[in-house]
Parts: sequence; structure tokens; C-alpha cells
Amino acid sequence: MESKTEASITIDVPITQEDPDTLRKIVKAGLLANPRTLPSKLFYDERGSTLFEQICELPEYYQTRTEHQLLVTWADEIVALSAAEELVELGSGAATKTRVLLDAMERTGQLRYFVPFDVDESIVRRVSEELVQEYPGLQIHGVAGDFLVHLEHIPEGGKRLVVILGGTIGNLPPSAAENFLTDVNTEMASGDFFLLGVQLITDPRRLEAAYNDQKGITAKFNKNILHVLRSQLGARCDPDHFDHVARYNPDAHRIEMWLRSCQDQTLDIPDLDIFLSLKKDEEIRTELSTKYDRPLAVDLLMSSGFELVKWYTDPEQLIALALARKP
Ligand code: SAH
Ligand code: AVI
Repeated sequence: MESKTEASITIDVPITQEDPDTLRKIVKAGLLANPRTLPSKLFYDERGSTLFEQICELPEYYQTRTEHQLLVTWADEIVALSAAEELVELGSGAATKTRVLLDAMERTGQLRYFVPFDVDESIVRRVSEELVQEYPGLQIHGVAGDFLVHLEHIPEGGKRLVVILGGTIGNLPPSAAENFLTDVNTEMASGDFFLLGVQLITDPRRLEAAYNDQKGITAKFNKNILHVLRSQLGARCDPDHFDHVARYNPDAHRIEMWLRSCQDQTLDIPDLDIFLSLKKDEEIRTELSTKYDRPLAVDLLMSSGFELVKWYTDPEQLIALALARKP
């Protein structure tokens, strides 16, 4: 594993140590399953992360600006309650909203360490370089890893506030979300705080609009998974021969994103011994985005070992920030 120190930036890259066979097995099992699926973490190479940043700016994607506003309103209280010196962000992406928390920590003189943790190494490096300029004296220890596998790479740095923003928890099936948060809890010390950004169940039309934007950025983001399959696994397929589909599943209260084959075609990954014949209209599921209500979110937190401290939500109850604590 690489470990580089430049000024006050350290970056660990456990993702490069992951056995390539693990990813191959997951991709193969998913593509051969019914329904066919691909792992959502494969959206996020440099291009995918940039497309996600563009999604965050879309008028239809109300999630980011609503959560940002909640952070602006409550960051001082969250930071005061947590008394944290180390901010750890899992699935940190561009860490845009994170700056609201970092600013609040800086105001109270609490800010010491920031740990951006993301599967996309390029964005961990970019964010680390930006933040070390913006917050002089901040120690940054980035981790380019899979948060389902590499949590033990989170460095020790004092009293912690661990955050997962953006509703990323909803991208895991509920049982995987509980296992993941249980693992996060295990990495924390008693008294450490945890902030979970949750997308709430709302009007299905509004939800579907957020994933079917007029500019087609979400469609590009969805198809990026095929670009990554081509570059990382040598897949042979044409992303233009798939349509973007996003629809609300009311029974599971989640948006599901799919890629629908526009024609009879093949998707081959010779290295994995995969030679798929896809019929026109056949679909591959690429993402779940589960929406929660308060009881579901509190239940998730409690079954993962946390106690709820505060529940912040916007007037329309679109997004919640659940502030929790490890007892
Ligand atoms: N927190 C940011 C970004 C959310 S997008 C925000 O609120 O805007 C989800 C982020 O999680 C992406 O940056 C993606 O690269 C990261 N991610 C997805 N799956 C991951 C995994 N298994 N391990 C680590 N990071 C992951
Ligand atoms: C990162 N995650 C919470 C986003 C979501 O809303 O599920 C990913 C996304 N997919 C399409 N648009 C946004």
C-alpha cells in the first residue's frame, strides 16, 4: 500500500491492495443474477465523480441544496455537541458540504484532522489538496478505499465526528446498510458522534424527476458504469446502446436505476468469461437509492449500536440529518 506525506497531507490507498478477483467475482455474480445488477461503487471514477458533482447542481436534484441548508443552520450545534477534533467523512466525494462543518469546527478552534474517505482515489487527492490550502494547519489523512472493506484504515486522531452525507447510506440494501453502520460503530470510541444524512420518503413524482433530469446528466452518470466496466475490466459494450431508466419502487420506498438495452446486443467481458446476450428492453440494475422515514432511520441507527441525539429536518421533510452517538 502507498502512504505518502506531503505537507500536512497523507493519503492511504488500500483500494489498490484489493484482490482484483473480488471485484471480478462481484461483477460476474451480479451480471448473471436475476435481476442483473452492477455494483454502484463502479460509477465513481474521475468522470463519474465529476458527473455526480454536476447532478448536485441540477434544479431537479433538491437533495444537495436541502442538506447544505440544514448543515448551514445546524453545523454550530452539531460541532458543539460532538466536541470533535477529527472529522471523518465516508463517501466524501467533492466534500463541498463538508466545508460547512469544517468552518464550524474552525470557529470553535476544534479543527485538527480531516479524513476524506472515498473509493475514487482522484477525488480524495483533489479534495485533500484543496482543503489543505483552505484550512491552514489542518492535518488531512485521506483514504482511497472501499468503506465496506477498509474502515480500519481510518487513522486515530482524537475525539471523532464521523459523517455520511448525501444519502449515500440509501445506496446500500437495508441489511448491508445495517452491517456497514455496525462496522462504523465498531471503529468509533464510546462518546464519539455520528452524523447521517438521510433522504426522506416523499412525493414519487418529485423523486423520479430528481433522477430523470432534463439535461440528461443522470443518464450520463448511469452509463458511466459501462465506461468503467470497459476501462477497468476490459468489457466490450457500447454505452450508447443502453437507455437510462430511473423509477420509484413504492414497496421498497426506493428509486431504482437501470440500464435498458436499446437493441439485441452482446455485453462481453472475456477476462471474466462473460458473454451476455441481451435482448432489446432487457435491464441491468445499477443503483438503489432507498428513502427513509424517521422510524426506519432511527431503527437502522439503533440496530447498528447508536443512540439518537438530534433529528434535524427541513420544512418540507425532504432530507434529515440524524445526529447520533456511540453510547
Ligand atoms: N458525500 C458527498 C458525495 C456523495 S456521492 C455528497 O454528499 O455530495 C457518494 C460517494 O460515495 C461518492 O463519492 C463515491 O465515490 C463514494 N462511494 C460509493 N461507494 C463507496 C464505497 N463502497 N466505498 C467508499 N466510497 C464509496
Ligand atoms: C450518492 N447517492 C446518494 C446519490 C443518490 O441520490 O442515490 C447517487 C445518485 N444517483 C443518481 N443521482 C444521484
